[in-house]
Amino acid sequence: MARITVPNDLDAHWMPFTANRQFKAAPRLLVGAKDMYYTSHDGRQVLDGCAGLWCVNAGHGRDKISEAVARQISEMDYSPSFQMGHPLSFELASRLVELAPDGIDHVFYCNSGSEAVDTALKMALAYHRIRGEGSRTRLIGRERGYHGVGFGGISVGGIVSNRKHFGTLLSGVDHLRHTHDPARNAFSWGQPEHGAELADDLERLVALHDASTIAAVIVEPIAGSTGVLIPPKGYLKRLREICDRHGILLIFDEVICGFGRTGKAFGADSFEVTPDLMTTAKGITNGAVPMGAVFAKKEIYDTFMTGPEHLIEFFHGYTYSGHPLACAAALATLDIYAEEKLFDRAANLSEYFGKAAHALRDLPNVIDIRNYGMVAAVELSPRAGEPTKRAYEIFVRAYEQGVLLRFTGDIIAISPPLIIDEAQIDHLYAVLAEAIKATA
Ligand SMILES: Cc1ncc(COP(=O)(O)O)c(C=O)c1O
Repeated sequence: MARITVPNDLDAHWMPFTANRQFKAAPRLLVGAKDMYYTSHDGRQVLDGCAGLWCVNAGHGRDKISEAVARQISEMDYSPSFQMGHPLSFELASRLVELAPDGIDHVFYCNSGSEAVDTALKMALAYHRIRGEGSRTRLIGRERGYHGVGFGGISVGGIVSNRKHFGTLLSGVDHLRHTHDPARNAFSWGQPEHGAELADDLERLVALHDASTIAAVIVEPIAGSTGVLIPPKGYLKRLREICDRHGILLIFDEVICGFGRTGKAFGADSFEVTPDLMTTAKGITNGAVPMGAVFAKKEIYDTFMTGPEHLIEFFHGYTYSGHPLACAAALATLDIYAEEKLFDRAANLSEYFGKAAHALRDLPNVIDIRNYGMVAAVELSPRAGEPTKRAYEIFVRAYEQGVLLRFTGDIIAISPPLIIDEAQIDHLYAVLAEAIKATA
């Protein structure tokens, strides 16, 4: 393959969630992708250990998706999403609700996880208001939660750097404590034993604010972006029970968990807890075209479908809601997931994958390893006075050795496409192990 050089001016692009100056001094550009591998600008094959950004679950360069998108763009590039429709968005919604847990049977489209979260929060507020419970305006998130970067998402989110620069955020938001408890749960296999009682934080917030002021609670089934925090056994069920007791809606942010990461279609299936609303994005189109979708229970949809029929029921939507190209990509993606039984494949591989992760436990500076389905994390002790640098150096070393990983803080996250095979898993962890050993 021809060597592709770095553009000679990287200045104009202000990169997201990136140390711009550090990156531009030593850029890492990707120029091609097929199956499990990226091609880097210097012509190397790089094993994708994080499915892009947790989104390319079926692997890269899937012809079925590119053909569907190409067909659609030549047939109809765009159709207005307000007061008009096109067939694919309806076909896709039916396919999606077939995949969703029982009782969840409507889909509202957007373009990203952040938009899905804002949409779900607005749905929750409007739902209560329409039902005559307009005092339910409070939203509850969780420490260390990541729900994208909209003002709704950062308000219910629990990552200090994502919040502290941006003023007062939404008012009337409170947070549950996070569930990360390495003192009791370090090196747990799958769901940790300890921590179900942390769900009782919601009872405390009900006692503090009164249930009549609380609209919804939003959590990720597995918190991905803050370092793969697996829900303790019984935690999500307890949260569901408390929500039911007090008429509070439960929102699962499935942006990372959805579409096979946990070994089933959704985290809700794996953890056997059905939320009232589910936010999704990423794997819905295999990352090929931006798309998000909020899944809602029938009761929520039906609540909106009242009043005069000529009036808009939910004053919300995006120019690109249900974009034809995104729908085409999503339908092709769902076909691939089904034809190749990729969620079952993830479930079957998860033991091998998890064991390979846990085999790193005796390496220097490793203080915890966590796994569930096809996601794992290796937590490192931070270097004194230099938090995140150790993980960054490991990330760069692994990349130079041909494996792309993610790091947040001093945690390395591993979440490959679900098409990965055992030899590739071995290679991924061997490179990660060498990078950890080489990093003081
Ligand atoms: C759980 C969760 N919610 C929301 C988002 C935001 O998605 P997006 O970057 O598509 O806006 C992410 C992204 O990683 C996520 O992990």
